[in-house]
Amino acid sequence: MKIFLDTANLESIKKFNDMGLLDGITTNPSLMSKEGGNPKNAMEEITKIIQGDVSLEVVSTEYSGMMEEGKRLREYGDNVVVKVPMTPDGLKACKSFSSQGIPVNVTLIFSANQALLAAKSGAKYVSPFIGRLDDIGQDGMNLIKEIKVIFSNYSFKTQILVASVRHPLHVIDAAKIGADVVTLPPGVLDKMLQHPLTKIGLDNFLADWEKLKQKNPDTEI
Ligand code: G3P
Repeated sequence: MKIFLDTANLESIKKFNDMGLLDGITTNPSLMSKEGGNPKNAMEEITKIIQGDVSLEVVSTEYSGMMEEGKRLREYGDNVVVKVPMTPDGLKACKSFSSQGIPVNVTLIFSANQALLAAKSGAKYVSPFIGRLDDIGQDGMNLIKEIKVIFSNYSFKTQILVASVRHPLHVIDAAKIGADVVTLPPGVLDKMLQHPLTKIGLDNFLADWEKLKQKNPDTEI
């Protein structure tokens, strides 16, 4: 399963990329707005730092505007995936970009039917928002299961990019289902790294090593 970071925060992107954990990045207008700076600078930087796919989202809501913005976004790098909303115009733009070999991520997917239509429009990725479904009392992970079955029934190449992930259990469940990608807020990736027994175990190892050094001052590795 590929891991993308769901952020426009350069510090977080550099931190996890240096650890070799990132296969790509997803952004959206809200994440850009959260960082507050000039989004052009952020997009330029992110596409330079990351080798893998970087989803940059259009803000036009009609087809021709999406096509213009998508082309401009692709100027930031060959690794740019144009992110379009799950609307009739978004699907039309998806079809056009895909037929030109430009990868598209269709975002704001909340039903299996929407995912099916996006796949049929040639999307490289569909982004089902599981956390937002959980928020309204629907089982977000069930949507991932449904999409997985449908895509596999028809051998769609479209990848399931699990979005709106809120906690590490979402990641485990997505991996069990066989989702292609999870995109994670930095806080969730941080939590995945940690376990209290790992910290306690390491503290004990180091304390025991210190004891050994006190008995044998020449001890070293
Ligand atoms: O990529 C955007 C998606 O992950 C949204 O997440 O937490 O705003 O529902 P959230």
